[in-house]
Amino acid sequence: MPEMILTELHGKVALVRLNRPEALNALCDQLMEELGAALLALDADPAVAAIVLTGSEKAFAAGADIREMQPRRYPDVLFNDFIAKWETITRVKKPVIAAVAGYALGGGCELAMMCDIILAAENARFGQPEINLGVIPGAGGTQRLTRAVGKAKAMELILTGRMMDAQEAERANLVARVVPTEKLIEEALKLGERMAELSPVALAVAKQAVNAAFETTLTEGVRAERALFLPLFGAEDQKEGMAAFLEKRKPRFPTRA
Ligand code: CAA
Repeated sequence: MPEMILTELHGKVALVRLNRPEALNALCDQLMEELGAALLALDADPAVAAIVLTGSEKAFAAGADIREMQPRRYPDVLFNDFIAKWETITRVKKPVIAAVAGYALGGGCELAMMCDIILAAENARFGQPEINLGVIPGAGGTQRLTRAVGKAKAMELILTGRMMDAQEAERANLVARVVPTEKLIEEALKLGERMAELSPVALAVAKQAVNAAFETTLTEGVRAERALFLPLFGAEDQKEGMAAFLEKRKPRFPTRA
């Protein structure tokens, strides 16, 4: 049984809560192993259409666990790349929504950026403060933050360790939307429930197509999109989705997640 995360099912939406309050959800090895295993199990579970990942009201996650990292030496981390297991979340095919309240710092910000959508509470604070510790972001922060907010702001945040609040993060395109702190989970579950009504095949393929935009040139990206779009005509959901539109009714997509 996992000790550092809690999982609940709300209809077809799984809510995964990082639950290590004594360390502001610092992302230690055990937590990341439990999280990776839980996410893969939910991805394979036909009862689940979308996943919401959240922390507490005070902290989504205050970064990688500094106490655990401090004694590690170069050969240890060379042969045991503890960050590698963090990438499990990027293998999830179902939509993953980060519902961020409080601190999302360092690895916490990086974990949120590995999700498909970030929804921020008004009290959310984002930053990459690794520079204060004599290191740099190591779980994709220099790459994903730069792609999200552009070079000027990414450089400023990463080279100074400054935090930005939810409003600034929304203006900078890091987050999809800011919602009142007390409504964060409700709004994130609503997003998941909306997706649960849609075609799981189209959702999984849409994720792949958007992610391709960050990997390639426009010409190759458009080609990748076409290669993902055309096979959707071989899935029953396309027949049902288009028939339902023409018959002026709600679609009932036959494919199960
Ligand atoms: N690792 C381990 N423990 C942490 C932690 C972290 N990242 N962040 C907070 N904690 C612990 C604190 O040590 C403290 O524990 P004790 O009560 O046992 O002392 C507890 O959580 C509460 O924290 P604070 O007392 O510091 O709470 P605060 O409200 O005064 O401050 C904070 C909150 C500004 C977030 C502050 O805790 C902080 O600066 N944390 C570190 C943030 C950080 O540097 N993150 C980057 C980590 S490196 C990284 O993530 C590498 C990477 O790219 C993969």
